[in-house]
Amino acid sequence: MAQAQFTTHHGMVDILPDEARKWQHIESVIRQTAREFHFGEIRTPVLEQTGLIARGVGELTDIVSKEMFAFQRGDDQYVLRPEGTAPVARSFVQHRLEQRGGVQKLFYIGPMFRAERPQKGRQRQFHQFGAEMLGSADPMADAEIIAFMATVYRKLGITNTVLKINSVGDPASRKAYKEALQNFFEPHQCHLSNVSKTRLTQNPMRILDSKEEEDQPLIEDAPVITDYLSEESLAHYTAVKRHLDALGIAYQETPRLVRGLDYYTRTAFELTSPDLGAQDALGGGGRYDLLIEEVGGQPTPAVGFASGMERLLIACEALGIPLGEASQLDVYMVTRGEEARNWALQHAPLLREKGLSVAMDYAGRSIKAQMKEANREQARFAVIAGDSELESGLFTLRDMAESTETALSFDEIRTKITPTLN
Ligand code: HAM
Repeated sequence: MAQAQFTTHHGMVDILPDEARKWQHIESVIRQTAREFHFGEIRTPVLEQTGLIARGVGELTDIVSKEMFAFQRGDDQYVLRPEGTAPVARSFVQHRLEQRGGVQKLFYIGPMFRAERPQKGRQRQFHQFGAEMLGSADPMADAEIIAFMATVYRKLGITNTVLKINSVGDPASRKAYKEALQNFFEPHQCHLSNVSKTRLTQNPMRILDSKEEEDQPLIEDAPVITDYLSEESLAHYTAVKRHLDALGIAYQETPRLVRGLDYYTRTAFELTSPDLGAQDALGGGGRYDLLIEEVGGQPTPAVGFASGMERLLIACEALGIPLGEASQLDVYMVTRGEEARNWALQHAPLLREKGLSVAMDYAGRSIKAQMKEANREQARFAVIAGDSELESGLFTLRDMAESTETALSFDEIRTKITPTLN
């Protein structure tokens, strides 16, 4: 077979109908969960201003420094959004959403873009579902956000997950902790990987996220942030854990958990799965009390999470969880001759009006070929029409599973077939 001249970019994939069915199923679970938690949907543009992402996510993060799909057009700097939180914060400020009163609870599902090295569970265009709660500093908000995320996985039957949780404190706690990390790592610099050496001066907390083998022994002995938390941050962290206990949500305190985005304050968490391999994070999130001010708004505490849809699908597959049945074809209209083809074209809408799914031949093929297709598509019924049927007004209705045939008028056929519920 000739090779396709044009293909998708590296790390970007087409989602074809058999796969899309699974996505629809997962999306319906997410939407239902959002409804139960009373979150409203927000859809922001795929392109944002580069400055927003640089400021929001952080200049020193991998996402901003290495992985942005960015371009200039005229005077404007565009970036394909790498995540959804900074865009939601922007939208909150732009539309003064706080004026709607109360806490703003928003969820989203959509494509994100990061120029990472593709591998299993890591793509350049991937999809996230996420939720953000803006306007509450209460630890209950953190617990609700985590419960939202956990509920989606529970409903789908993904129960072998680990929720890792930590507090990254407030700026004052972090300043003290960064100094402690620098003091700890500096004397051992020569044992650190090159990446970690560069992080040591700029962003020492990121060393804790290193995957390099040589860094691990030192990381294991490094100080933990929980020893540097201010009283308020510690109280907040304790309350979040208490709420999770009360909700029966198991967690693993992971004092060296750091996230790849700079906006976090206090709570940080990640949901991991043993079924994912190297990229083991199903989702993650945390509190970002300073982000909204950072992007030009009034100080507004906020907390949220985002999860990878592709990784969710990988986990479902690994656990053998079936997703989304094929929708059943109710009627295949088998025709002989031009007139019958026109009849089928004009009568299909009357069946579809009833909610029936209807297919027909578009290539003028033989009855045999059409019956073969009706079989392949697993149609429940075939309606067979040719010149003599048009003349008599009686058509053959074939029950494909039973292999029985009856001669009926179109109205009788229309009354007899009722839609399958799927
Ligand atoms: P994140 O940890 O960068 O957080 O991404 C969340 C999830 O998106 C990851 O756990 C992973 O499942 C998925 N993901 C990330 N990159 C890729 C990729 N290249 N390919 C496939 N899946 C990927 C955020 O994006 C934050 N905005 C989460 C958040 C919301 N924090 C507060 N609110």
